[in-house]
Amino acid sequence: MKTEISQDIQKVVELLKKGDPVAVPTETVYGLAANGFDPDAVRLIYEVKGRPSYNPVILHFSTKEKVFQAVTQVPLWANELMDYFWPGPLTLVLPKARHIPDIVTAGLDTVAVRIPAHPLMLEILKNIDFPLAAPSANLFGRISPTRPEHVFQDLNGRIQMILDGGSCQYGVESTIVGIDESGSPLLLRHGSISKEDVEEKIGRINEARSGSDTPAAPGMLKSHYAPRTPSFLVDELTPWIEKLDHLQLGMLCFTLSEGPDDPRVRVLSPSGDLQVATKELYRVMHELDQLKLDILLFKSFPTYGLGVSINDKLHRATRPTIELRKFLKS
Ligand code: TXA
Ligand code: MG
Repeated sequence: MKTEISQDIQKVVELLKKGDPVAVPTETVYGLAANGFDPDAVRLIYEVKGRPSYNPVILHFSTKEKVFQAVTQVPLWANELMDYFWPGPLTLVLPKARHIPDIVTAGLDTVAVRIPAHPLMLEILKNIDFPLAAPSANLFGRISPTRPEHVFQDLNGRIQMILDGGSCQYGVESTIVGIDESGSPLLLRHGSISKEDVEEKIGRINEARSGSDTPAAPGMLKSHYAPRTPSFLVDELTPWIEKLDHLQLGMLCFTLSEGPDDPRVRVLSPSGDLQVATKELYRVMHELDQLKLDILLFKSFPTYGLGVSINDKLHRATRPTIELRKFLKS
């Protein structure tokens, strides 16, 4: 199968109605979309991505009314978040209605839902009468795609079509909020809306414990978004540059003032804008990975706002720092 990159929305709609998966742009990252009411179509998503079946997918809807039919309970705070952030990069995990297929939720009694803000995605949703199940359109465990070429690199030959919507506006996945046992909101995944922005609307929220291999929530597998090149997260770049001088090195940091003056360092936002850095993050990670260098070093980001989301992605993309020792000159 030859994978076509195209702007033909009509064809996307036809393929989706037939039960075929299609890669589509959203405002966060590209998604691998299929009919969320059709278990066979959703099964194809898991197959194409090589994703384990215990990891549930998000359902994308066009209206709040349709979301309300897919869930059995909407706490007040969740309703407020919907009104503040939808359409947009916020996903809510709520108790699911009976008719939602088990394969969508990996057998859980909750379902992840959101209304995306990308105009092409919304246009598609208006032309179909089912929600779109869509994980990020990368192979399982790889960096999420923010451009059609990224999807092509991972999924060429596995799907018929990638809808070309250019670069994604936000550049990292949606922020996910679920419910804890007492009915309060629980942050399940850092994403393109900062925790502070969520808290500004509904007050303080707890964070699910993350970083283990048996996640509190399925979305929290430790290794994720990983480049193929061995990658490490470090507090400072300069001390490592000398120690690793015998290797082909790629580096990434936030602003100009932070990075050593070295042509190998990629600065995500020269002016120090976290929103810009977020948008650039996966694109630069993809580019560095393509260079087939020996090692990639990522400098930690500020620990506030979207810096927290970026650090979270970088952390999941990297190996334990202790393994850096293996690369030192002997
Ligand atoms: O921005 C995004 O959210 C993108 C675009 C395409 O919408 N989608 C995305 O999907 O990132 P995915 O599958 O890569 O990540 C969804 C995460 C997964 O880690 C999954 O474990 C978690 O959401 N998730 C889905 N349903 C869940 C549930 N019922 N309970 C807990 N976590 C859930
Ligand atoms: Mg993903």
